Amino acid sequence: MNARQHVQHLLDFIDASPSPWHAVSRVADRLSVLQFIRLDEKLPWNLQPGGRYFVVRDDSSIIVFVQGQKPLVETGFRIIGAHTDSPGLRIKPNPASVIDGFLRLNVEVYGSPILATFTDRDLSLAGRVSYKNVQGHIANRLVKFDRALLRLPNLAIHMNRGVNEDGLKLHKQNELPLLLTRCSEQQLPAQAFYALLQQQAGLDDTQILAWDLAVYDTQCGSFWGAESEFYADSRLDNLASCHAALSALLDPLVLQSDATLVCAFFDHEEIGSESSKGAGGSFLPDVLQRIAFAGEIHKDDWHRALAKSFMISADMAHAYQPNFPNAYDPDHKVFVNSGPVLKVNANHRYSSESVSEAFFGAWCGEAGVPYQKYSHRSDLPCGSTIGPITSAKLGIQSVDVGNPLWAMHSIRESAGVLDHEYMIRVMKIFLLNANLNYSRS
Ligand code: CO
Repeated sequence: MNARQHVQHLLDFIDASPSPWHAVSRVADRLSVLQFIRLDEKLPWNLQPGGRYFVVRDDSSIIVFVQGQKPLVETGFRIIGAHTDSPGLRIKPNPASVIDGFLRLNVEVYGSPILATFTDRDLSLAGRVSYKNVQGHIANRLVKFDRALLRLPNLAIHMNRGVNEDGLKLHKQNELPLLLTRCSEQQLPAQAFYALLQQQAGLDDTQILAWDLAVYDTQCGSFWGAESEFYADSRLDNLASCHAALSALLDPLVLQSDATLVCAFFDHEEIGSESSKGAGGSFLPDVLQRIAFAGEIHKDDWHRALAKSFMISADMAHAYQPNFPNAYDPDHKVFVNSGPVLKVNANHRYSSESVSEAFFGAWCGEAGVPYQKYSHRSDLPCGSTIGPITSAKLGIQSVDVGNPLWAMHSIRESAGVLDHEYMIRVMKIFLLNANLNYSRS
């Protein structure tokens, strides 16, 4: 595949993944075709050298691994971490209200989206419903409305004269509810919403008990620019990193690796990672321990294996936008289509340190891929990633990297076509034959 084909594959993945639950389901589908075995955390695991496996926790976090041909204590784990969630709007438990003859959906802000970008878009809903099945058991089902269903119309400029000077400010409680339909005062708003949801989920009434529903933009990904050298879509942060990692892992050569390879894609990064399936939870330590102890490893060897392990924490980086030069440290501008970005922060908001930076730079050299280094403006607070959280939990050496992205947390982000393939190439080098030895002198 060339660079453009890789991006088209990415855009197809994102457009089929309007929620973290859908993203994990798409990844699982792709793995199942390639003879990966789905493991259940409630059952014993029987792992074989060279075996291909994945584990899903609560539908929206997934860990994929390939057992190495060599013992774990010799090779350690090679891990790529990323996240499946994106900031946006979620539907509240009491989903609807009627005001002045309009049925509106009640929403809560998830993470830190740029709220103004949600106005005037062809919005819809996707997520999962939990329901009682015919046997009387609780079951989950994915649901996705494939058409524009909802809207947040802007106020006309005639009623908001200062919008271009002051920016668009939206009150989270009063001004974010999404318009769904006209509705008489006699109709019960929740019932109207339930009817719609039941129909879309293919369930009958009384079955739906709860849901996790995200608002998404129905516009599909697109290429843009004079040479179509850029692309745009929702949720590039961070489905682009999940896709790059998986594309690297599924390379036929990489699948034959001596080392045990792990791709861990977590939900809840955008809200701090503290949950049973987030990067701050036990999911990754649990899975790594089960992999290790399935090989009847001694406790001492477990720690040796961790000491020989390495993690790439992959999340998107802030590409330079020339209209806003003052937003960037002038000596740390990173550009789209100029290669993956090494993210560095003295306060360890990113996990990179000199040795892991040097490793990543060397792997880029081996892959024939350019790379750039980013540091945030010193007078602005820096975001963080799953890198510091996971490396602290496991004591694993880690580096934070990501491709340059414009408009992080907008409903429509964009990036450079070349960078995606660059990232896949360097990730392949890391998984396949990265040299992780270094000496003190
Ligand atoms: Co992110």
